[in-house]
Amino acid sequence: MKVWGIVPAAGIGERMGGTAPKQFLEIGGVPMLARVIDALLRSGIIGGVTVPVRDAEREKAEKTVAKFVDADVPVLFVTGGQTRQESVYRGLASVEGKNPDFILIHDAARPFISPDIVRRAVDVARDAGASVVGIPATDAMALSRDGIITEYLPRDALVCIQTPQVFRYDLVVSAHEAAVRDGITGAADDAELVLRLGGKIVVVRGSPDNIKITYPADISRMGTTG
Ligand code: C5P
Repeated sequence: MKVWGIVPAAGIGERMGGTAPKQFLEIGGVPMLARVIDALLRSGIIGGVTVPVRDAEREKAEKTVAKFVDADVPVLFVTGGQTRQESVYRGLASVEGKNPDFILIHDAARPFISPDIVRRAVDVARDAGASVVGIPATDAMALSRDGIITEYLPRDALVCIQTPQVFRYDLVVSAHEAAVRDGITGAADDAELVLRLGGKIVVVRGSPDNIKITYPADISRMGTTG
């Protein structure tokens, strides 16, 4: 069974401020992008990885991975897109002809992923066709309009969706192609696109540590131990 990883890393990280995009920020001396790829490879079940990056950062990304990751499988770099969705789509295009059975997608901005969660997500997708890592909502959740609460949501039914997300290759390709055909460009993630096709997606229990680094405080909150 061949599993290919896609690590979208073409975001600008506007909300982080600073000069370098967040995927290059170091945690414990190791850039986030390198941490992520290292964790995927340490799972022992990834046969190759594609990293969509902005052209301006391609060389830096290549050097970062060469320096910090001891990769024994191919790591490809492709030009990312304007949106996360487009970046993943381009990553999928890079895999054409490599005949993967499954695609595992994990944000470069989630550096605290563990190889164990990667393995569990793949195991579940192997049986079900699709899996997403998620954790139960702990805060109360409500809808609001113009800053006014309009409705409380049933917390027991809510899942905070993370990555990795793992899909049968043909399923995720069809989902992205259908989205392009239907003019959808800003999906939150790939599971949203697969769900549109009516695919069954099984939740794999993740970890509250697997946060997406969005604001500078996210890094200081985690310390440098991750
Ligand atoms: O912006 P956000 O934090 O939601 O991005 C999630 C992931 O998608 C990040 O790893 C980011 O680098 C990636 N991304 C991308 N191409 C874009 C926008 C975001 O690869 N155009």
